[in-house]
Amino acid sequence: MTAKAYSTTASPEFVFQKLNEIGVPTHFVRRLNMREQLIREVEIIPLEVVVRNVAAGSLATRLGIEEGTQLPRSIIEFYYKNDKLNDPMVSEEHITAFGWATTQEIDDMIALAIRVNDFLSGLFLGVGIRLVDFKMECGRLWDNDMVRIVVADEISPDSCRLWDIKTADKLDKDRFRRDMGGLIEAYTEVARRLGIMSENEPPQGTGPVLVKS
Ligand code: TMP
Repeated sequence: MTAKAYSTTASPEFVFQKLNEIGVPTHFVRRLNMREQLIREVEIIPLEVVVRNVAAGSLATRLGIEEGTQLPRSIIEFYYKNDKLNDPMVSEEHITAFGWATTQEIDDMIALAIRVNDFLSGLFLGVGIRLVDFKMECGRLWDNDMVRIVVADEISPDSCRLWDIKTADKLDKDRFRRDMGGLIEAYTEVARRLGIMSENEPPQGTGPVLVKS
């Protein structure tokens, strides 16, 4: 296990803690202090898994669908993590042919993505926010000879599209990407609605927590 410094505004472990609670495996173990969290060491699969519920961003542009159109069902896409190539979208054929993941691992990633999407959609719906789309990453976690796929990296308003249900206001990083301003206010609003304490508030101690690894 390794300790990782953490940085983004809204408590990044909040989602991972909740996912662990409902039995979705993640690399997250627990927060150590205000700056670090304990995570399991995983081998990151070089793919971004994007789940879309509503047309927006690159999907809207690529397919000429008006932003905000509800998709007929949730759509899962894979992007190859490569900054030089601008993270191109890839098919399952590319993924298996180039050995980035096996067919079984792709199935596991899709199953995890669906569970995370269902969970997050409900979580945000409960606080008046529409989960338009999000990006997640997965890693291989070794347990002796066994390897399993877990959700890794971070899921935060940096990697989600979140729109207010009533006003359709954007409460995510598109405010920065599209030069709209009000990013901090939007993130603060998401954190407030979710009841996540701000970084400046004192932690509410819950006492020692037993960790099984
Ligand atoms: P896109 O519409 O630009 O392809 O983005 C889809 C979702 O993935 C959106 O919620 C933002 C997120 N995303 C990232 O977190 N990192 C990235 O590098 C990209 C391209 C998208």
